[in-house]
Amino acid sequence: MKAIVQDRYGSADVLQLREIDRPRPRADEVIVRVHAAGVDFGVWHLMEGMPYAVRLAMGLRRPSNPVRGIELAGVVEEVGTNVTAFKPGDEVFGIGDGSFAEYARASESKLLHKPSNLGFAEAAVVPVSATTALAGLRAAKLEAGQTVLITGAGGGVGSYAVQLARTMGAEVTGVCSTSKLDFVRSLGAAHVIDYTREDPTAGDRTYDAIIDLAGSREVASLRRVLAPTGTLVILGGEGGGKWLGMGRQVWSQIVGIASRQKFRMPIGLVNQKDLATLKAMLEAGTLTPVVARRYPLADVPIAIRALAEGHSRGKSVITMS
Ligand SMILES: NC(=O)c1ccc[n+]([C@@H]2O[C@H](COP(=O)([O-])OP(=O)(O)OC[C@H]3O[C@@H](n4cnc5c(N)ncnc54)[C@H](OP(=O)(O)O)[C@@H]3O)[C@@H](O)[C@H]2O)c1
Repeated sequence: MKAIVQDRYGSADVLQLREIDRPRPRADEVIVRVHAAGVDFGVWHLMEGMPYAVRLAMGLRRPSNPVRGIELAGVVEEVGTNVTAFKPGDEVFGIGDGSFAEYARASESKLLHKPSNLGFAEAAVVPVSATTALAGLRAAKLEAGQTVLITGAGGGVGSYAVQLARTMGAEVTGVCSTSKLDFVRSLGAAHVIDYTREDPTAGDRTYDAIIDLAGSREVASLRRVLAPTGTLVILGGEGGGKWLGMGRQVWSQIVGIASRQKFRMPIGLVNQKDLATLKAMLEAGTLTPVVARRYPLADVPIAIRALAEGHSRGKSVITMS
């Protein structure tokens, strides 16, 4: 099968389109014929092996699985001996190990039947980013009527966070660049701040919660616009240190010891329960995935370079022809 593989950590230049053996399922795994695969920052971290903590889990000198790609949507090709929830021919979405390939292995527990109203490309951009948005809003314990500031509101995670916060009944202020203002409004933001013209951490307005996805603003700056008992949820920000990559998150925990403000740093772990929650919203039309750009498998390096620039509008996807 064709797959995007890497033999060493590094920039998108290390990625190669190669012919490799099709994976075989372990007992609790499914082989999915991939129709579409989402492009998210997790892929970038695994490709670069950065921060270094990634290498402890993925392989010290090179990634133990050379095939990149996490999110997927496709059709079940083969099932392991213990798999009961899926059978060949089922349309699924979720995460797997190496989805930038014609076939990928996925744990049964990380998949769900695809929402009936979505195409494969739309379904493939849901799992990691929407689960992360959900985790962030839960960590903020956001309630109806509260105010929330969301940075990176027009990106892969932000486009879900705005919609989900709105559905929870919160009053959303989205932070994005000029070209995305109308888009972020259309997602459900009551207010938008163009960060290229206005500092979202300046001014008198405060928020019950901040979901911080982009811009790597200092914790002290974000606290300035956080209500006295509000919650700052730091989800994003590359460049947080070579070793752990979580400089701001760690600092926020220290600051939080002596503060009534709360600081959270959740991780969006894909699981069937959250996928089911999201699927119900997708099928009800209260949540809509935004596909940014579509790339063929051979163009994964181009897609990842574009992602790394950090100005995505929704989320890009690799589609198999
Ligand atoms: N904790 C977790 O489990 C988890 C899971 C997934 C992702 N993440 C992290 O979450 C972050 C966002 O991921 P993503 O997939 O949403 O990235 P993305 O698709 O690149 O979105 C980032 C968005 O932020 C905007 N932006 C850039 N600079 C900004 C600034 N200074 N202020 C406000 N907005 C700015 C970008 O467009 P414009 O500049 O045009 O507005 C873009 O729309 C990443 O750091 C990623 O690593 C964390």
